[in-house]
Amino acid sequence: MGEVFYVTTPIYYVNDVPHIGTAYTTVAADVVARYQRLKGREVFFLTGTDEHGQKVAQAAFEKNKNPQDWVDEMVEHFTETWKLLNISNDDFIRTTQNRHTSVAQKFIEKLNEKGDIYLGSYEGWYCVHDETFLLSSQLADGACPECHRPVEWVKEENYFFRLSAYRERILKLIEDDPSFVQPESRRNEVMSFIKQGLSDQSVSRTSFTWGIPLPFDAQHVMYVWFDALINYISAIEYGKNDERFTRIWPADWHLVGKEILRFHAIVWPAMLMAAGLPLPKRIFAHGWLTVEGEKMSKSLGNVVRPRELVEEYGVDAYRYYFMREFSFGLDGNFSRRTMTRRFNDELANDLGNLVSRVLSMVEQYRNGIVPSPRAQAPEENAIQEKAKGLYETVDELLENLEFNDALAKIWDFIRALNRYVDREAPWSLAKDKSKSDELDGVLYTCLEGLRIVSVFILPFMPDTASEIWNRLGIKEPISSARLPEASEWGNLKTGLKTRTGEPLFPRIQSA
Ligand code: MSP
Repeated sequence: MGEVFYVTTPIYYVNDVPHIGTAYTTVAADVVARYQRLKGREVFFLTGTDEHGQKVAQAAFEKNKNPQDWVDEMVEHFTETWKLLNISNDDFIRTTQNRHTSVAQKFIEKLNEKGDIYLGSYEGWYCVHDETFLLSSQLADGACPECHRPVEWVKEENYFFRLSAYRERILKLIEDDPSFVQPESRRNEVMSFIKQGLSDQSVSRTSFTWGIPLPFDAQHVMYVWFDALINYISAIEYGKNDERFTRIWPADWHLVGKEILRFHAIVWPAMLMAAGLPLPKRIFAHGWLTVEGEKMSKSLGNVVRPRELVEEYGVDAYRYYFMREFSFGLDGNFSRRTMTRRFNDELANDLGNLVSRVLSMVEQYRNGIVPSPRAQAPEENAIQEKAKGLYETVDELLENLEFNDALAKIWDFIRALNRYVDREAPWSLAKDKSKSDELDGVLYTCLEGLRIVSVFILPFMPDTASEIWNRLGIKEPISSARLPEASEWGNLKTGLKTRTGEPLFPRIQSA
């Protein structure tokens, strides 16, 4: 069971277009997926769109469009952006697809048969933007505590899910397994929320029709969050293809933003318990990004789209920056200043320079042929030692989603290689015929170091990694490289034909 490594992003509301905040979860999930593939795991990486609910219905109405036409139009923004960002998702689920709606209906039917669904009446506040029910005590100055928009009073007959019945089990689960909800600070928040008591969750709406009809009462459509969470199992054919489902489920990681953690850490596990299904292994709530110190919002006009940054900096620099600049569990602030600085210092200087000077020296002194390694010299040994420890360090960090620290360790190695070049000064060795073996050894060490760098940066910067790999003249594609073997020292074959090329990251003028 669960032999496939399964990672998910939230499914995004289609009525907004992707920005650097939504892309943040997706890029992180892509790095996780690519890293696990690099380790030889079979991976299933799922993303998609959340297309029902009042917010979408309203947006379509305002545009004078039929909701299905509207979502069909809007979904393109997501598929195009993920293509642009080189996202390697294995599937893209849309909640309006029949493969999803049919599973969602079966799922709620099952809970209903079990006696976990009952008809009641809901009276309270609703935030349409966040699609959440709110108690008066949760409001902040009469508005939604999350997005600060006005809320509306809802009084409807609703079906409810007996969430309260699962309170003890969920609390125990989170208490007993510290890795289930991460990071620690968020886990504590969730636990204290549960300790205050859980009320049953409304799971249907009657005041609009844009949703999945309840199979046992067609007057009601499913509450959009109940519908949305089911995407994680509808995409892998729950109830339709048991063999496939059990190979993939449970998810290894659900990656979510901190504001939607409660749905994932409380409601979703309770739904799965009610259906008698295994629970996801781990849920990670990442922080929120601001832009130049401000919350991103349409009204402030400061929403940053991935496309403009990719046009300015390139896709790999985009991916690098967002994974390097922020600690995944914490909030962070995007600014062009920090992005340009990292681009120039870490990509243009550290990595780009290393690649271009090593390859041009090999071209100049050895006609672009990978020379033979040399019997151990102490400086080379030091580089080898560093390379040897790298896998273990990076692996532990990436298994824990510490992307920024993993990149920092990889960059320590890149900087060590740069210092090594400075110290060994191949340009001086080249002047002295008696030092030819020494020069061979130094160049080999640099090239082998670059090969190892390219393997480690592959999940973060797939294009750059494969460009470096190809410039080293390695015949097999980098996609066939597997960790940890590919990080072992000495794999680079003598005699390969290397090539120089354009600078990988031409410097950007600082703003
Ligand atoms: N549709 C729901 C999720 C359902 S999952 C079963 C939803 N969608 S969303 O489009 O509003 O947001 C999805 C993700 O984008 C969340 O993980 C959220 O944290 C992330 N972000 C949106 N704005 C963000 C920032 N400014 N910064 C970082 N991430 C943010 O919620």
